[in-house]
Amino acid sequence: MKQGKANIAKPLTTNRHLVRWVEKMAELTQPARIHWVDGSKEEYDWLCDEMVASGTFIRLNQERWPGCFYARSDPRDVARVEDRTFICALSKDNAGPTNNWVNPYEMRRKLKELFNGCMRGRTMYVLAFSMGPVGSPMSRIGVQLSDSPYVVVNMRIMTRIGLPVLAEIDRDTMRVVPCMHSVGMPLAPGQKDVPWPCADEKYIVHFPETREIWSYGSGYGGNALLGKKCFSLRIASNIARDEGWMAEHMLIVGLESPQGEKTYVAAAFPSACGKTNLAMMVPPKALGDWKVTTVGDDIAWIKPDANGQLRAINPETGFFGVAPGTSAKTNPNAIAALSRNSIFTNVALTPDGGVWWEGLTDELPAECLDWRGQRWTPEIAKQTGAKAAHPNGRFTAPAAQCPSIDPAWEDPSGVPIGAIVFGGRRSTTIPLVYQAFNWSAGVYMGATMGSETTPAAAGSVGMVRRDPMAMLPFCGYHMGDYVRHWIKMQRSLSSTPRIFHVNWFRKGDDGKFLWPGFSENMRILKWIVDRVHGRAQGKETAIGWTPYYEDVEWTGLDVSRDQFEQMQVVDRLAWRKELIGHEELFIEVHDHLPPEMVYERELLICRL
Ligand code: GTP
Ligand code: SPV
Ligand code: MN
Repeated sequence: MKQGKANIAKPLTTNRHLVRWVEKMAELTQPARIHWVDGSKEEYDWLCDEMVASGTFIRLNQERWPGCFYARSDPRDVARVEDRTFICALSKDNAGPTNNWVNPYEMRRKLKELFNGCMRGRTMYVLAFSMGPVGSPMSRIGVQLSDSPYVVVNMRIMTRIGLPVLAEIDRDTMRVVPCMHSVGMPLAPGQKDVPWPCADEKYIVHFPETREIWSYGSGYGGNALLGKKCFSLRIASNIARDEGWMAEHMLIVGLESPQGEKTYVAAAFPSACGKTNLAMMVPPKALGDWKVTTVGDDIAWIKPDANGQLRAINPETGFFGVAPGTSAKTNPNAIAALSRNSIFTNVALTPDGGVWWEGLTDELPAECLDWRGQRWTPEIAKQTGAKAAHPNGRFTAPAAQCPSIDPAWEDPSGVPIGAIVFGGRRSTTIPLVYQAFNWSAGVYMGATMGSETTPAAAGSVGMVRRDPMAMLPFCGYHMGDYVRHWIKMQRSLSSTPRIFHVNWFRKGDDGKFLWPGFSENMRILKWIVDRVHGRAQGKETAIGWTPYYEDVEWTGLDVSRDQFEQMQVVDRLAWRKELIGHEELFIEVHDHLPPEMVYERELLICRL
């Protein structure tokens, strides 16, 4: 094997705790070699070359897709595995009924077994990463030990890694979050590797008290890129609760009016419900000179500043975005971002060495290889319904390449948040937009939010489930306490952001979306901004304030008063059923819920 760099096995830190931990973990997992990741471009190129040689990567046509690579996962490893995700708090009650819990002592014993010798024949990469700008008071550092080079190169796009982070570790007394990761497929001497090693049995484990992550058996997305959901949401939600800030599954977007007034909005939608699209939206020309800028598309760390104003950073540096449906029409900014230096996983490969997925172009490729590597043609699709790309096929693209990236996206002190938006995927009942009466009603709105399940997680698709603040799979402690934390946050704020709910996915009797969505969502955001600045009217309904037809800017879009009414209607009967739905989850977590949720429910019942 080519020895790429001289730094192999030589620790790139003076921090003795870190060195000792790496040694201890190497003793346990028995890798063939250890590589301290410096994060350089040379190292990245070398790792990509190695993966092309091993068959994990296919180099795409470099003229059309410069710096881009293509990977197919094992078909058993295509999404987050929520039923294999564990929060091993000391007490079961701290994990709460919505998380899988195993006694931490028992789990540690199991992990020791699983990790014993699990990296045999492989390289253990020591990957130091910072979530948030290096050196920002809002940032946090982790070190992931992984036997997957695919993870290392993806993490280089998604986070800040390598020497600057190690220097930070050397300088600082800051606590580092240890993240163990193995694909769980050791190699015997002489055993040939496979393009996508993984294991049948997967464990995505979090120890909230000791702030540790152990992930075994998967190389895909949130299961394996541990800076993402495991660290920035499940572990960070614990840190945030203890320190008085918030770690949320939210995009952050800047909205600049034609007059130059800028308002930042944070929005929580469940997985595959439109965060990336909203974060990079191109407003319709007919609305005038509105500018939409992107701070983040998936995760927000939000903290009150010295004046009690909420400020948010995006802890990531890349987008791990859903490919199907992404096109120059629906999301030109994403298309620009992913046009170079990007990694594509589980989409289709075209004969000219390019990538394709459903929705990328109106015209279908005459033929391609699907995400499983099998021949795909439009005829085959018609006959068998086979998809060229997996519905959770994804691109990993550098945020800096996004044309709409906000000038302040790396500001260490974050951007001020003027509004918080919740939204789910609901074909019925939930209006296009409404505003909560106040903070506590807004927290109730977020806490009772429902959404139809999507392919982002393994399991059935299209079932409505309660997904408080889009955090059901990502909250690292008791969901009732999490809602309590939201209520408590109000006390450290001088002015609370206004809270809204949107639903782009309501359908008519014909089964079609009532609302065109995508760039037209700007019309709804404009009303939201106008409300934040006290300009627009609102009609009081049982569930909150809604816009009058006149309050929405319709220039350039043909939506009649009747059609708008259909999108906005608050059907009392349907809402009574919805209220019963709220109880599904609240019954489970009631002993930890703040009393405000009971009051808000009573108020809602009275109004309905
Ligand atoms: P994660 O990365 O899993 O957290 O997903 P996300 O919330 O970023 O979702 P994304 O923006 O990738 O959108 C997922 C799917 O929703 C895609 O298939 C989009 O085409 C679709 N979608 C996004 N915005 C809209 C919209 O306004 N209307 C409709 N009908 N579909 C949308
Ligand atoms: C999500 O599922 O919400 C994602 C993709 O953003 S993953 O990184 O796999 O969690
Ligand atoms: Mn997400």
